[in-house]
Amino acid sequence: MKKEKIENLTPTQIVNELNKYIIGQDDAKRAVAIALRNRWRRQQVAEGMKEEIMPNNIIMIGPTGVGKTEIARRLAKLTGAPFYKVEASKFTEVGYVGRDVESMIRDLTELSVNMVKAEQTELVKEKADHLAEEKILDLLIPPVKVPVRTNSDQENSENDEAVRNEKTREWMRGKLQKGELDDKLIEFDTTTAAVGMQVVGPFGMDDMGINIQEIIGNMMPKKKKKRKTTIKEARKFIAQEEAQKLIDMDNVQKEAVRRVQETGIIFLDEIDKVAGNSKGGHGPDVSREGVQRDLLPIVEGSTVNTKYGAVKTDHILFLASGAFHVSKPSDLIPELQGRFPIRVELKSLTEEDFIKILTIPENALLKQYSALLKTEDVVITFEDDAIREIAKTATIVNEEVENIGARRLHTILTTLLEDILFDVPDKMPEAEIKISGNMVNEKLDKIVKNRDLSKYIL
Ligand SMILES: Nc1ncnc2c1ncn2[C@@H]1O[C@H](COP(=O)(O)OP(=O)(O)OP(=O)(O)O)[C@@H](O)[C@H]1O
Ligand SMILES: [Mg+2]
Repeated sequence: MKKEKIENLTPTQIVNELNKYIIGQDDAKRAVAIALRNRWRRQQVAEGMKEEIMPNNIIMIGPTGVGKTEIARRLAKLTGAPFYKVEASKFTEVGYVGRDVESMIRDLTELSVNMVKAEQTELVKEKADHLAEEKILDLLIPPVKVPVRTNSDQENSENDEAVRNEKTREWMRGKLQKGELDDKLIEFDTTTAAVGMQVVGPFGMDDMGINIQEIIGNMMPKKKKKRKTTIKEARKFIAQEEAQKLIDMDNVQKEAVRRVQETGIIFLDEIDKVAGNSKGGHGPDVSREGVQRDLLPIVEGSTVNTKYGAVKTDHILFLASGAFHVSKPSDLIPELQGRFPIRVELKSLTEEDFIKILTIPENALLKQYSALLKTEDVVITFEDDAIREIAKTATIVNEEVENIGARRLHTILTTLLEDILFDVPDKMPEAEIKISGNMVNEKLDKIVKNRDLSKYIL
């Protein structure tokens, strides 16, 4: 799937894409698919009305390890829009030591700038590559001076020379393009980074949206610096420099800010961690509630200064998620609850889900292990009853020890496969390994039956 296409995906298509990686959790998938499609719909609405349509922020609630973060991660990969995922627990109230909440808008903008820059660089790539090639040829075979006098004899001989020069140049170009000169060393001028000095501004300068590096960088004269590298490296380097000159950074920044404002998405993970559930109101709780208060204006819509200009947050979509096993959504301050009107619940995973998680997703754990072992020429297959036993064990341990959702499959598989992973390739070169249900039982039963043991191992 091409990235830029996602914006045109219908809700059903979005869910289908998510289905490739996430088992179940249909409600959550539907909600995010609708929210995403609504961004696109809003873009089509006439100005005036468009301004009125606010994003429907979503809060995903569910126990640990059932796919909340995974949904966000897959969405990020799917969407062509600027998407930033951050843990709410990372923030502290303004005035406390730590990141303030506005920084997430700056980070999102930074990400958007890099995205647009990469796109534009891609657009001018061919031209930049060509310019780099010419520059290197200039270095290898300096062009002859244009004739100045009109004495016909002399002109002829100079023309001859020019023709010869041109021929050598083309011959060189051929060699260059075939990569025959890649390892040769070449010296060239660079104009970037006049000083190799990192300017560290006063603490928090970046957070104020001021780019000290750039201010000082612009004040310094652009000095030329000689560099010596292989031709292969030099081509890359010069092409990058040329690309920089070809793109209009002002445009890039404008477009980046526009995308953040119109299509940006922020995923606020672990939102439950800032929901203080004690009535005490001192120590970290004060700060936690402060973070929530700081979040309000940003979620509601305000203007944040970034080094790329002011960014309005009114239409940024916020997806929040949390396990809420200690605190409840109602422990969030009411104003914040109100700003996340859509709530979806993710369900605990069942044995049947585990079987699917083990086998269906494109990145399914069993596929991962077989890919790992394949690098050693070992083929590993899991029989159906083995997969069922693994899923069953995961369910039992989740029930009896602690429910950590699908993460349990990781711990169980590492225990199950430990010996094999150690013995390959020394004791088992080029083997074909079949894992049967009995093998799973043999290996795991003792640990599962012993509660204390499973607490530590599984
Ligand atoms: N429904 C699911 N389908 C497929 N894989 C899943 C599913 N749920 C969880 N997993 C797997 O389990 C891992 C952990 O899930 P995830 O990170 O989404 O947990 P979470 O719900 O965010 O939990 P927490 O509240 O602890 O952050 C994922 O990397 C993924 O491989
Ligand atoms: Mg998570």
